[in-house]
Amino acid sequence: MSQLLRRKPIAALVPGSDSEALRRVMGPGDLIMLAIGAVIGAGIFSSIGTAAAGETLPTGEVVRYGAGPALILSFLLLGVVCGLAALCYAELASMIPQAGSAYAYAYATLGELVAWIIGWDLILEYAVGNIAVAIAWSGYFNSLLSGFGVQFPEFLTHGYRTALLSSDPAVHALLQTAPRVAGIPILLNVPAFVIVMLITWLLYIGVKESVRANNIMVAVKLLVLFVFIAVGAGHVNPDNYVPFAPNGWRGIHQGAAIVFFAYIGFDAISTAAEETRDPQRNMPIGILGGLAICTVIYVIIGAVASGLVPYQQLKAADPLAQALQLAGLQTAGLFVAAGAVVSLTAVLLVFQYGQPRIFFAMARDGLLPRWASKIHPRYRTPHITTVVSGIAVAVGSLVMDENEIYDLTNIGTLSAFAIVCIGVLVLRRTDPDRPRPFRVPALPLVAVAGALACVYTMSGLPAQAWERFGIWLAIGLLLYFVYGYRHSRLRGRPAAE
Ligand code: ALA
Repeated sequence: MSQLLRRKPIAALVPGSDSEALRRVMGPGDLIMLAIGAVIGAGIFSSIGTAAAGETLPTGEVVRYGAGPALILSFLLLGVVCGLAALCYAELASMIPQAGSAYAYAYATLGELVAWIIGWDLILEYAVGNIAVAIAWSGYFNSLLSGFGVQFPEFLTHGYRTALLSSDPAVHALLQTAPRVAGIPILLNVPAFVIVMLITWLLYIGVKESVRANNIMVAVKLLVLFVFIAVGAGHVNPDNYVPFAPNGWRGIHQGAAIVFFAYIGFDAISTAAEETRDPQRNMPIGILGGLAICTVIYVIIGAVASGLVPYQQLKAADPLAQALQLAGLQTAGLFVAAGAVVSLTAVLLVFQYGQPRIFFAMARDGLLPRWASKIHPRYRTPHITTVVSGIAVAVGSLVMDENEIYDLTNIGTLSAFAIVCIGVLVLRRTDPDRPRPFRVPALPLVAVAGALACVYTMSGLPAQAWERFGIWLAIGLLLYFVYGYRHSRLRGRPAAE
């Protein structure tokens, strides 16, 4: 029992002298760029379609209700939820500036078992989330190619689960028309598989996103979204806004629960606390400023997209390109598809880069086998975990369905957010004197409201997501007790250490 609650001393989490040499160079503007770089991706380019239109199985069973044009209220709600959680992240990140993010914070505050659960949840955020990003990438890639008259066979661009669950009769019919091997229909999202393998190879040989590359990416993302807004706004048909909230608050809530994916990545900017000038002032400006900007962009995109076409027509693999094309704006649609392909590649890179490093941190603590913390002698990358994560994500994106993956990623990430909010409160009590370069204002209100807001957002996800999350946690706990519990580096040490 005492080991389950054993906390890793913060001193062991804070890196040594080299980190003290990190220069405090970042201002609020840099933080905002960092946030936009990590955040804008499949959520706004793709999950927005299901959030607006809802989801119905081919059997007629409703999986979730859509927000309709009231999607803009879902975005506003999420801006508040993420703002509260991000402030809590910033306090922990500035106290415990270390790779491993929420996993490391939990190890210091809530003990080994909770840390393991968060690390396990972060797999949902990073690796599993990237399955959805890869599928969204494929949707826009195919949209782009078809603009140039190139069309892959449908059975090589749709995964089995997507065909099984789609209420679009043409997609669902692929179950019957696809070639079969031993009676099993061959339905594989090959472009999604290929892009993940390419990115894995780049990461294996040590490619990193630099600040410069990030700035270029942010420029591309903003340009594409700006073009979507500028071109689309002139073709909005006000009739499409009626009814505004076809499924009332239920639709707004359930829409928010899936489009939350568009906000994932905010936690990443809190890790820059150590390199930020005057973090007490600039972190909240960066976090809340970045959130506010993304929220405003999302609200405008939501308003234009649902004004261009009846909201039901946003349900597509490439909703933003499709909305423009259905409104007769072919060239702009192609431009947006091209920009989405570039933007989503960057998101894939960030999260495929992050996952092996979380495994690395966990293996270093003994909670995963030692081989997971091996470093390639020449490339200096955690090559084994890079390849394992790459293959798992690539194979997942071959056959899975995007919406199922959004749900699972969101539930895992929101639960990690909630735990971080609570962690702030715990650490204020257990370790009140440790220097906090950034302190959450108005405690305990902000932390409690943040945790509750995350749980409320989670409650808008379908029952199936909760079942799967439960299974995921059960597997995680089993692994912990079979392996991590016995091999933890803190095992057997006196509690005071
Ligand atoms: N927020 C990131 C995206 O939407 C994960 O792709």
